[in-house]
Amino acid sequence: MQPAEKQENTISEIDMKDIVALCKRRGFVFPASDIYGGINGFWDYGPLGIELKNNLRDLWWKHMVITPPIGPDGHPLQIVGIDSAIIQNPKTWVASGHVGGFNDPMVDCKESKSRYRADHLMVYTSGQDKWAAIYNEEDAAAIQKRLKKLGLSDDLSGYDIIPFDKIDQSDYAKIVGPDTKTPGTLTEPRQFSMMLDTYPGVVRDEDSKAYLRPETAQGIFLNYKNVLDSSRVKMPFGIAQVGKAFRNEVTPRNFIYRSREFEQMELEWFCHPDEAKKWRDFWFEERQKFWKLAGLSDDNMIMRDHDSDELSHYAKEGLGTVDIEYRFPFTTPGYGELEGIAHRCDFDLKQHQEHSGQKLEYVDPERGNEKYIPHVIEPAAGLTRGILALICEAYTPDPDRPSGVYMNFTPRMAPKKAAVLPLTAKDGHPDKAEKLYMDLREDFAVDLDIKQNIGKRYARQDEIGTPFCFTIDNDTLQDDTVTVRDRNTMNQERIAMDQVHSYLSEKMKA
Ligand code: GAP
Repeated sequence: MQPAEKQENTISEIDMKDIVALCKRRGFVFPASDIYGGINGFWDYGPLGIELKNNLRDLWWKHMVITPPIGPDGHPLQIVGIDSAIIQNPKTWVASGHVGGFNDPMVDCKESKSRYRADHLMVYTSGQDKWAAIYNEEDAAAIQKRLKKLGLSDDLSGYDIIPFDKIDQSDYAKIVGPDTKTPGTLTEPRQFSMMLDTYPGVVRDEDSKAYLRPETAQGIFLNYKNVLDSSRVKMPFGIAQVGKAFRNEVTPRNFIYRSREFEQMELEWFCHPDEAKKWRDFWFEERQKFWKLAGLSDDNMIMRDHDSDELSHYAKEGLGTVDIEYRFPFTTPGYGELEGIAHRCDFDLKQHQEHSGQKLEYVDPERGNEKYIPHVIEPAAGLTRGILALICEAYTPDPDRPSGVYMNFTPRMAPKKAAVLPLTAKDGHPDKAEKLYMDLREDFAVDLDIKQNIGKRYARQDEIGTPFCFTIDNDTLQDDTVTVRDRNTMNQERIAMDQVHSYLSEKMKA
């Protein structure tokens, strides 16, 4: 048998509609409240989506908490995990700068009643009197279509493209919004809070207002002292958390890329201020290795330094943020953020110290009991956005197979590692298959699929990205061998049934 080859998946030629359709058809992702027509910005993960999400989460947890990376001094890093509440004391968000600061400038359209983030609108200007404001995540073909619809030239090279927030207000009258035909309907940008609020308890007034966390990070800062007091970690060390976050995104779009409820995987790495640069560079390298291990190819990832005018409130004084970006089908030829590695300085701990009145200084025995508030390097990744990247990377059209497409997940990430398929539903095949399935399922997520013709069952496994299918046939009854079918090459070979377990174990290392 030939080795499993990585087939070419040309992201730029993939249509998101096909990916969304496969995700629904095969049970990866469904619109939330589907039977009621959905709810904008919310998604449910189906039987395979949850397996994929858990696999990425577990890989991250292993990489961070169970077997943390080896540090520059040759010793393993110290990282512990927590799981903090989604709702915290609302003072948290005042201290963190989210209440009052977690605002985006929004532009309203007086005609269509739509609302847009000012920093997401690009204005296409030319010599003419009519300018077009277009959402910056549109691809070139959609932009050309829009310009044509407005009676403007579709030659993109003839335009100056200016971010909406850089346009002089005296020119607003010329601009046509993304969802109208008439110029002059867009307002000037106004601040809009992205925090989703809720009212725990029986009284519903301003005093009882709390927030759904917009990031998992603050739960870590709130527990910094508890972790120091209860565990044996010493500077430098990390606290990791995976969990839900909520943002009232104005324009949730591009499937699960930007949603209102999503999941993050965040590490806060606490260190001496003098060592922040060393650790930022360290984590930048580590995080790239992680995404490659999860199956993203170098060709579809880039690393980007934040421009100085897009720095977060906490990063202004520090070394800034570097992003790991992925080329999604809807961003191509550009990229969209997957993870940011930020230097948060001592901003959060200082703020919480001031607002809570609790001392959060560290007394460093290794540095002659020097007292300081540690600096923080924060690799902050999207879990749900990460699985979208894995899905896009894996989606491989192939007209030569019945399914027309297969999902090229790495064996490590695949929701199902193998399928056990009796060739027929009689002649003793199902009994043998069940025996093999019972043996494998202790260690691997395995499917046992008995009915339907074998071609259809292979097609299903190709579409859900199962790397190996073991087929039981009449020969199995004679000599205890099974056929292994490789998803990518579709090659088949026979191996002894008692070798299947070790065969799969070996393949899972890929
Ligand atoms: N604690 C820092 C922080 O939250 P962020 O860049 O706002 O930083 C980190 O978020 C990651 O969370 C992003 O790189 C992205 O992968 C993911 N993320 C942010 N907003 C999201 C949304 N609305 N939907 C899905 N994922 C999102």
